[in-house]
Amino acid sequence: MTAFALESFIAQAAARSCSHPDPADCVLALAPLMLDLIEHAGTFLEPQHYRSTSAGYTRNLIYQASDSSLSLYALVWLPGQWTPIHDHGSWGVVGVVEGVLEERSYVRLSPDRGSDGDIDLARGGIILLRQGAVTSFVPNPDHIHVTGVPAERPRAVSLHLYGRTMSDFNIYDVGARTRRRIEVAHNES
Ligand SMILES: [Fe+2]
Repeated sequence: MTAFALESFIAQAAARSCSHPDPADCVLALAPLMLDLIEHAGTFLEPQHYRSTSAGYTRNLIYQASDSSLSLYALVWLPGQWTPIHDHGSWGVVGVVEGVLEERSYVRLSPDRGSDGDIDLARGGIILLRQGAVTSFVPNPDHIHVTGVPAERPRAVSLHLYGRTMSDFNIYDVGARTRRRIEVAHNES
Protein backbone atom coordinates (compact mmCIF):
# COMPACT_ATOMS: atom_id res chain seq x y z
CA MET A 1 0.00 0.00 0.00
CA THR A 2 1.83 3.06 -1.23
CA ALA A 3 -0.09 5.46 0.99
CA PHE A 4 1.01 3.73 4.20
CA ALA A 5 3.39 6.54 5.19
CA LEU A 6 0.58 9.05 4.76
CA GLU A 7 -1.99 7.01 6.67
CA SER A 8 0.46 6.45 9.48
CA PHE A 9 1.33 10.16 9.57
CA ILE A 10 -2.33 11.20 9.73
CA ALA A 11 -3.06 8.75 12.54
CA GLN A 12 -0.06 9.84 14.58
CA ALA A 13 -0.60 13.54 13.88
CA ALA A 14 -4.23 13.25 15.03
CA ALA A 15 -3.21 11.44 18.21
CA ARG A 16 -0.38 13.84 19.03
CA SER A 17 -2.39 16.98 18.31
CA CYS A 18 -5.18 15.72 20.59
CA SER A 19 -2.75 15.00 23.39
CA HIS A 20 -1.03 18.42 23.11
CA PRO A 21 -3.63 21.17 23.49
CA ASP A 22 -0.93 23.87 23.75
CA PRO A 23 0.02 24.75 20.14
CA ALA A 24 3.71 25.10 21.05
CA ASP A 25 3.71 21.56 22.46
CA CYS A 26 1.78 20.38 19.44
CA VAL A 27 4.31 21.57 16.84
CA LEU A 28 7.11 20.16 18.98
CA ALA A 29 5.43 16.75 18.78
CA LEU A 30 4.50 16.99 15.10
CA ALA A 31 7.66 18.41 13.51
CA PRO A 32 9.56 15.07 13.67
CA LEU A 33 6.60 13.36 12.00
CA MET A 34 6.77 15.86 9.15
CA LEU A 35 10.51 15.25 8.82
CA ASP A 36 9.74 11.55 8.26
CA LEU A 37 6.77 12.24 6.02
CA ILE A 38 8.74 14.31 3.50
CA GLU A 39 11.28 11.46 3.26
CA HIS A 40 8.41 9.29 2.01
CA ALA A 41 6.60 11.89 -0.08
CA GLY A 42 7.36 9.96 -3.26
CA THR A 43 5.25 7.04 -2.02
CA PHE A 44 1.98 8.94 -1.70
CA LEU A 45 2.13 12.17 -3.71
CA GLU A 46 0.26 11.70 -6.96
CA PRO A 47 0.11 13.83 -10.10
CA GLN A 48 -2.92 15.76 -8.80
CA HIS A 49 -0.88 16.94 -5.81
CA TYR A 50 1.56 18.63 -8.20
CA ARG A 51 -1.07 20.69 -9.99
CA SER A 52 -0.03 24.26 -10.61
CA THR A 53 -1.21 27.30 -12.51
CA SER A 54 0.42 30.44 -13.81
CA ALA A 55 -2.21 32.46 -11.89
CA GLY A 56 -0.55 31.90 -8.51
CA TYR A 57 0.69 29.28 -6.07
CA THR A 58 -1.58 26.23 -5.91
CA ARG A 59 -3.00 24.51 -2.83
CA ASN A 60 -3.79 20.83 -3.43
CA LEU A 61 -5.70 19.17 -0.60
CA ILE A 62 -4.29 15.84 0.58
CA TYR A 63 -6.34 15.28 3.72
CA GLN A 64 -8.84 17.07 5.92
CA ALA A 65 -10.31 15.68 9.14
CA SER A 66 -14.10 15.43 9.18
CA ASP A 67 -14.16 17.48 12.39
CA SER A 68 -11.92 20.19 10.83
CA SER A 69 -9.22 19.58 13.45
CA LEU A 70 -6.44 18.85 10.93
CA SER A 71 -5.70 19.51 7.28
CA LEU A 72 -2.79 18.64 5.00
CA TYR A 73 -2.05 20.28 1.66
CA ALA A 74 0.62 20.02 -1.03
CA LEU A 75 1.49 23.54 -2.15
CA VAL A 76 3.13 24.10 -5.51
CA TRP A 77 5.11 27.29 -6.06
CA LEU A 78 6.16 28.17 -9.57
CA PRO A 79 9.02 30.66 -9.96
CA GLY A 80 7.88 34.13 -8.89
CA GLN A 81 4.75 32.97 -7.00
CA TRP A 82 4.17 34.35 -3.49
CA THR A 83 1.41 34.47 -0.90
CA PRO A 84 0.12 37.81 0.29
CA ILE A 85 1.23 38.86 3.78
CA HIS A 86 -0.89 36.55 5.93
CA ASP A 87 -1.39 34.72 9.20
CA HIS A 88 -3.07 31.38 9.91
CA GLY A 89 -4.96 31.54 13.20
CA SER A 90 -3.64 28.06 13.88
CA TRP A 91 -0.48 26.14 14.47
CA GLY A 92 1.20 24.78 11.36
CA VAL A 93 4.03 22.46 10.38
CA VAL A 94 5.61 22.76 6.93
CA GLY A 95 8.01 20.40 5.15
CA VAL A 96 9.76 21.00 1.83
CA VAL A 97 9.54 18.18 -0.71
CA GLU A 98 11.20 19.89 -3.67
CA GLY A 99 13.12 23.10 -4.33
CA VAL A 100 13.81 25.95 -1.93
CA LEU A 101 10.91 27.63 -0.17
CA GLU A 102 11.48 31.17 1.05
CA GLU A 103 9.70 32.65 4.03
CA ARG A 104 9.82 36.36 4.85
CA SER A 105 8.53 37.10 8.31
CA TYR A 106 6.87 40.21 9.74
CA VAL A 107 6.94 41.36 13.34
CA ARG A 108 3.78 42.86 14.77
CA LEU A 109 4.63 46.06 16.67
CA SER A 110 1.13 47.07 17.74
CA PRO A 111 -0.80 45.00 20.29
CA ASP A 112 -3.48 42.70 18.87
CA ARG A 113 -6.77 43.71 20.46
CA GLY A 114 -8.79 41.98 17.78
CA SER A 115 -9.15 45.06 15.60
CA ASP A 116 -8.56 44.88 11.85
CA GLY A 117 -7.00 48.36 11.83
CA ASP A 118 -4.12 50.24 13.46
CA ILE A 119 -1.80 47.32 12.75
CA ASP A 120 1.89 48.16 12.59
CA LEU A 121 4.15 45.56 11.03
CA ALA A 122 7.91 45.61 10.58
CA ARG A 123 9.76 43.39 8.16
CA GLY A 124 11.66 40.62 9.88
CA GLY A 125 14.17 38.06 8.71
CA ILE A 126 13.94 35.50 5.97
CA ILE A 127 14.50 31.77 5.97
CA LEU A 128 15.40 29.57 3.01
CA LEU A 129 14.13 26.03 3.35
CA ARG A 130 15.69 23.37 1.16
CA GLN A 131 14.20 19.99 0.32
CA GLY A 132 14.02 18.02 3.57
CA ALA A 133 13.62 21.05 5.86
CA VAL A 134 10.78 21.46 8.36
CA THR A 135 9.47 24.68 9.88
CA SER A 136 6.52 25.46 12.15
CA PHE A 137 4.55 28.28 13.70
CA VAL A 138 2.01 28.88 16.44
CA PRO A 139 -0.82 31.45 16.84
CA ASN A 140 -1.50 34.10 19.49
CA PRO A 141 0.36 36.14 18.56
CA ASP A 142 -0.12 35.04 15.00
CA HIS A 143 2.88 34.31 12.86
CA ILE A 144 2.66 36.84 9.99
CA HIS A 145 4.64 36.06 6.87
CA VAL A 146 5.01 35.86 3.12
CA THR A 147 6.00 32.57 1.54
CA GLY A 148 7.06 31.81 -1.99
CA VAL A 149 9.75 31.31 -4.58
CA PRO A 150 11.66 34.13 -6.29
CA ALA A 151 11.53 34.26 -10.08
CA GLU A 152 15.12 33.07 -10.45
CA ARG A 153 14.61 29.80 -8.51
CA PRO A 154 12.89 26.63 -9.79
CA ARG A 155 9.55 25.23 -8.66
CA ALA A 156 9.10 24.31 -5.00
CA VAL A 157 6.65 21.81 -3.53
CA SER A 158 5.85 21.75 0.20
CA LEU A 159 3.55 19.91 2.60
CA HIS A 160 1.53 22.01 5.05
CA LEU A 161 -0.22 20.54 8.08
CA TYR A 162 -2.53 22.84 10.07
CA GLY A 163 -4.63 22.53 13.20
CA ARG A 164 -7.82 23.41 11.33
CA THR A 165 -9.21 23.34 7.81
CA MET A 166 -7.24 26.20 6.27
CA SER A 167 -9.97 27.68 4.09
CA ASP A 168 -9.54 31.31 5.14
CA PHE A 169 -6.95 33.56 6.74
CA ASN A 170 -6.12 37.21 7.39
CA ILE A 171 -4.15 39.14 4.82
CA TYR A 172 -2.38 42.36 5.76
CA ASP A 173 -1.87 45.71 4.03
CA VAL A 174 1.23 47.19 5.66
CA GLY A 175 0.76 50.70 4.21
CA ALA A 176 -2.93 50.93 5.16
CA ARG A 177 -2.18 49.27 8.55
CA THR A 178 -5.13 46.91 8.06
CA ARG A 179 -5.98 43.25 7.75
CA ARG A 180 -8.96 41.47 6.26
CA ARG A 181 -10.23 37.91 6.16
CA ILE A 182 -10.19 36.16 2.80
CA GLU A 183 -11.25 32.74 1.57
CA VAL A 184 -8.36 30.71 0.14
CA ALA A 185 -9.08 28.22 -2.59
CA HIS A 186 -7.74 24.68 -2.90
CA ASN A 187 -8.02 21.76 -5.30
CA GLU A 188 -9.67 18.63 -3.96
CA SER A 189 -7.77 15.34 -4.22
FE1 LIG B 1 1.63 30.76 5.79
